[in-house]
Amino acid sequence: MFTRDMLKGRVAFITGGAGGIGLEIASTYGRLGASVVLASRNQERLDAALATLAAEGISAMALRTDVRYYDEVKSAIDTTVERLGALDILVNNAAGNFYCPTADLTPNGWRTVIDIDLNGTFYGCHAAYEHLKRSSFGGSIISVITMLGVSGWPGAAHAGAAKAGILSLSRSLAVEWGPDNIRVNTISPGPIGDTEGVRRLYQETGREELERKKTALGRFGRKADVANAAAYLASDLASYVTGDNMIVDGGRWLKYVAA
Ligand code: COA
Repeated sequence: MFTRDMLKGRVAFITGGAGGIGLEIASTYGRLGASVVLASRNQERLDAALATLAAEGISAMALRTDVRYYDEVKSAIDTTVERLGALDILVNNAAGNFYCPTADLTPNGWRTVIDIDLNGTFYGCHAAYEHLKRSSFGGSIISVITMLGVSGWPGAAHAGAAKAGILSLSRSLAVEWGPDNIRVNTISPGPIGDTEGVRRLYQETGREELERKKTALGRFGRKADVANAAAYLASDLASYVTGDNMIVDGGRWLKYVAA
């Protein structure tokens, strides 16, 4: 059942943890008793995130990491285990994205997003595997994707392809690593207000109102909506849930298909 300390004693490593949805997940996990480690490219943003968490009474650790480089990801994850004694939860949340019609996208633009989103997620899973296998709670991997990976994502084909790849990777790993008691799930948020993604993709492109109307609930989600799903999936409440893609999109996916 739900308790205030349902993640007590667990160590969570969160990529893209210095802001947006990643920081919200860190704060939620911290309030539920987990020790959290934030990974991000930007030291200033990491420092600010640690201060935000400290103001909530959550002690966290920050490790400067660019998920495009396997060695950096592995070193950060190994350091987490050296300092905190274990790794129980990996959240692959770091993402790069921008609006760009595919005919205008350069090969390097394509590669950059695939590197951050898809390759970065693979690097995290691979580097975390041996540690998650030893978790006394059972390991949990949660990757943040979107149903626009499944439907296709006009104007962001690079990110859509990366997210579809993460969905497939996660389902493969759910089966491969199930015997190691590692659960592997994804979350598919819809448009979440007050995030970099919504600003770049919908506000700067003048699509905010249109995107709001596309959801069944007629509104953008909150970062906490995604963080609550991530808390459930990381906890024992979801101990028989693996290979799932939890859709937290205000009904956008169904309306998209049906309308
Ligand atoms: N439109 C078209 N191409 C773009 C672009 C845009 N808005 N932004 C970047 N690119 C291209 C660049 O032109 C470059 O390709 P080129 O060398 O052929 O010109 C390539 O992408 C890499 O860009 P660069 O700025 O060197 O990469 P970076 O490592 O500094 O930044 C990004 C990575 C591009 C993903 C950047 O947007 C980023 O850091 N995003 C992180 C935050 C984020 O995206 N959050 C939203 C998540 S939903």
